[in-house]
Amino acid sequence: MGKEGNLTQKEYQIAVIPGDGIGPEVVREGLKVLREVATRCGFRFRSAEYDFGGERYLRTGETLPSSALEELKDMDAIYLGAVGHPRVEPGILEKGILLKIRFGLDQYINLRPVKLYPGVWTPLKDKGPEDIDFVVVRENTEGLYLGIGGFIREGGADEIAIQEMVNTRRGVERCIRYAFEYTRKRNRKKKLTLSDKANILTYTHNLWRRVFKEVGEEFPDIERECVFVDATCMWMVKNPEWFDVIVTCNMFGDIITDLGAMIQGGMGIAAGGNINPQGVSMFEPIHGSAPKYTGKNAANPLAAISAAQMMLEHLRETEGAELIEEAIKRTLSSGKIKDLSARSGLKTDEIGDMVVQFLGKIS
Ligand code: IPM
Ligand code: MN
Repeated sequence: MGKEGNLTQKEYQIAVIPGDGIGPEVVREGLKVLREVATRCGFRFRSAEYDFGGERYLRTGETLPSSALEELKDMDAIYLGAVGHPRVEPGILEKGILLKIRFGLDQYINLRPVKLYPGVWTPLKDKGPEDIDFVVVRENTEGLYLGIGGFIREGGADEIAIQEMVNTRRGVERCIRYAFEYTRKRNRKKKLTLSDKANILTYTHNLWRRVFKEVGEEFPDIERECVFVDATCMWMVKNPEWFDVIVTCNMFGDIITDLGAMIQGGMGIAAGGNINPQGVSMFEPIHGSAPKYTGKNAANPLAAISAAQMMLEHLRETEGAELIEEAIKRTLSSGKIKDLSARSGLKTDEIGDMVVQFLGKIS
């Protein structure tokens, strides 16, 4: 309840993890846009900032304390900038912060829209916004990411390295079910593509295929298609218009969504949500911390602003989400942003201000 006694005004608790590198700079713009939209749409949000990231790790040796994970469970959503620090060995922050939250909060879906907005350059020749508009539903808590494995005879000529791909019936089923429901709700081509490698991964991906068919029978209105992941990459480049929703395992989803980000205009615009439909979800730009641009006010904040849009969609602040998307579209088609990279010549906060200005013009 708002202090004014307005019984209908909702207030959301948002955990903000700006993180490393350009994270804080882009998150600042996302929050600026959110504040504006909140005022317009009549909701409030309170942000609780957490300093998890490389600096804190170097200072204290701590990545994400378990007590913080407990606190995050009480939030309505989490807004993340980026983690990754040049002086921290790869893997520590990724596993210690990002994966710890994804796994700890059981955010079993990684939702990544691949959408080319008008006015954005794509490296795909003769393809436009009407061709590039699909969503990848990536499994987010299992597969190769579980980190099960080890070395045998480490360091020797006979060394063996093992990394297990693990899938559970429950994990695969809830992901596939989410994807079918999402495809139905999206209500476009009503086609769900399972991207796998069932010809080689004859155990885990055989399970994916069986569950896909089984669950699919409950969704007769949704067309089903299985495409090997290598062919998926090929079609994403050659005929991206064929896709509506793609569901895939954790590792393949990681890889194909970077390809997806490139065809939608690059890391300057790609956003994703780590979703626990029954719990607390986390929204982030897909790009990393881009250390060389730290503090330069050069990174494009549109991916972080898009992540904020996804967060509102998730919180069912539909009007606010639509407003942000419309403002992003107008910003992009204004012709003022020649390039979505950090070398656009525009400042991070200038782009944030542009989005806010366009917001103000939407009636
Ligand atoms: C992503 C990132 C992460 C992943 C890394 C940072 C662990 O690449 O969100 O796609 O592999 O999931
Ligand atoms: Mn990735």
